[in-house]
This record gives sequence, structure tokens and C-alpha cells, in this order.
Amino acid sequence: MQATFPAALGLAPEQVEQVLRLAGRAPSLHNRQPWRFRIAPEVIELHADQDRRMPGTDPEDRELRLGCGAALFNLRLALAHVGVRPLVTLQPSVRIPGLLAEIRRGGSVHVGAEQSALLRAITTRRTNRRPFLPTPVPKVHRNTLIGAVATEHAWVHMVERAQRAELLGLVRRAHEAQMADERFRAEMAAWTGLREGAPEGVQASSAGPAPEAQDEWVLRDFSGGHARPRVPGKDFEDDPLTMVLCSYSQGRQADLEAGQAMQRLLLTATSLGLAASYLSQVVEVGETRAQLRSLLDGTLEPRAVLRVGYGSPVPPTPRREPIELLLPAAAGQRTHAATR
Ligand SMILES: Cc1cc2nc3c(=O)[nH]c(=O)nc-3n(C[C@H](O)[C@H](O)[C@H](O)COP(=O)(O)O)c2cc1C
Repeated sequence: MQATFPAALGLAPEQVEQVLRLAGRAPSLHNRQPWRFRIAPEVIELHADQDRRMPGTDPEDRELRLGCGAALFNLRLALAHVGVRPLVTLQPSVRIPGLLAEIRRGGSVHVGAEQSALLRAITTRRTNRRPFLPTPVPKVHRNTLIGAVATEHAWVHMVERAQRAELLGLVRRAHEAQMADERFRAEMAAWTGLREGAPEGVQASSAGPAPEAQDEWVLRDFSGGHARPRVPGKDFEDDPLTMVLCSYSQGRQADLEAGQAMQRLLLTATSLGLAASYLSQVVEVGETRAQLRSLLDGTLEPRAVLRVGYGSPVPPTPRREPIELLLPAAAGQRTHAATR
């Protein structure tokens, strides 16, 4: 079958395709990949895919935009890697629902070693739900992660021991509230614990071990009921490095900014040999999110709770092909269509 792929920003069609492939490697809630792109010669538009909303889990689309922000960060890196300095406008028009960002050519650029390491990490990063090694994350790495997030104008709070019990309680409360909600359970059932071969959703092979009552953290069971039995003695680490990614402001634009900061954090962690997984319940439920905000002094908006450490290898999750991410050209829009 022949498919067309447009050129853009001075790049050849196959370069644009590769840039979108890398953008699409971003993490997203239940791997729904809620992003679409419209390509024109002078601009790449990032759109939210309204058909991939998860109202039972993410009623206000906060995490949808967080994932799209992560895809935008990948896109920025991938463009820089092919010499294009990305000029990004967030939320360029309130009149076009779902249009999240426009990316134009802002000149040329050569990437340095740090950006190259982040680019390589796009394809090796994974959400790792398995137990981590007991080895602590060195302070120098923690500081590197804090710096990475600050570069994207956000903040990451390292959870102190004294705050841990309270955070654990909030996660548990949020988890119970969600599990009592039929719509939430239906989304979990539809998009996790899947067999191999689907281009989206979370495969059972990416799930962590079966949750057990004595576990300190309440982790979601992504196995669809097919979790491998726990290996004796291989429990979750006693003292996980837990962090809360926060933004300084609220709203749709802040969601996109936080998503870019989250992806910079995750790629930096990957480049340092670290793995990460999420404890999202607490930020998804409005009441516990407000309580977490109070726990963090009330001025920052919590976006994602992450567990970071040294993990064992896990398989990659699937992605849709770049051609499936394209939105049709807008009326009157000129495209340089190429045939593959
Ligand atoms: C906003 C957001 C929230 C997420 N929440 C959770 C979560 O609570 N538990 C979890 O195990 N994974 C969570 N994930 C991870 C996704 O399931 C994962 O990104 C997706 O399955 C793709 O896999 P990958 O990250 O390995 O590429 C979340 C991801 C995002 C972007």
C-alpha cells in the first residue's frame, strides 16, 4: 500500500516521518498515544486526539496534555538533531479545539553531547513497574534530575522520609476511590493487561509483579489478571526514591509545559541508567491532589508522582506508525506530498 508523507520545515519527508516516530515514543496514560500532527511546509501542529480521552481516569484531560507535552519534548529534540531549531508556540489559538502547539523553524542548530544522550534515551526509556535494586540513587544524579526539570521551568520535589507515610496514605485513598468507580475500572480493563500485537495499550508483559497486601506502595495491576507470581525475596525496594513533578502554574498551557519537563526528567534519568514508574492515582483524584499540594506547602501544582531507581530490563511498549498520527491537511493548505 502506498502512503504519502509530507515534507516540512525544510526537512525531507523521511526526516519528518522519523521526527514523528520519535515524538510518538513518549509515555502516555495507558499508552493511548493521544496525539495527532498536522504537517504543512512551514509548520508542524500538535493536536490532542479527542478520541483517545480517558474520562474515567483523567476527566479534565490533564494527563492527556501531559503526555502530549512529553511528545512535544521528543519532537523538539528530534528536530534539533536534524539541524532545526524548534520555535514553539503553545496554545496558539483558542478557536481551534485540540490544537496544542505549533512548531516552526527558528533557524539552524547543532546539538551537543547532552542533547544527543537525551535523544538516544527516547528509544530506550521504559516505564518499569518491577522492583528496583536496593542501590540508592547518588546525590549527584538527584541533583542532575532537579536541574533537568528546572531547565524546563518546573520543579521536582524529592519526597523526604518524614513525608512518605502521608503520601502513601494519599495514594491508597486515591486508589480506593478510583477502584470504586466503574468508568475507571472499565478503562483499566480495556487498555491494560493486553496480549502482544496491539499497537497501543499496556501489554501484560509490561506489568509489574502481582500486587500483594503487604506492599508499601499501592501500584496498579496492569497484568489483566495474568501477573507472574512473585519471586520470593524479590519484594519492592524498602526505600524507593520518590519524587513529585510540579509546575508553578495551573491550566492547559501549564499542563503542556509540565509534560515537557516530565519527559526531560525521564530521559535524563534513562541517560543516567535509572528507571522510573508512576503512582498517578494521587494526582488524578482532585481531592488527594489538593491534599498533596498542601503537603508540598501549597504553592506548587503536583503533576506526576514517580518512583526512580535502578531497574532490571523490561520490554518496549508498542506504538502506532507515524502515518497514523497525521491529520489531514487543512483546507487550502499546500503540502509537498511524497510517495513511499
Ligand atoms: C500522565 C501519565 C500517567 C501515567 N500513570 C501511570 C500509572 O499510574 N501507573 C503506571 O504503571 N504507569 C503509568 N503511566 C505509564 C504509561 O502506562 C506508559 O507510559 C505507557 O504504557 C507507555 O509505556 P512506556 O512508558 O514504557 O513507553 C503513566 C504515563 C503518563 C504519561
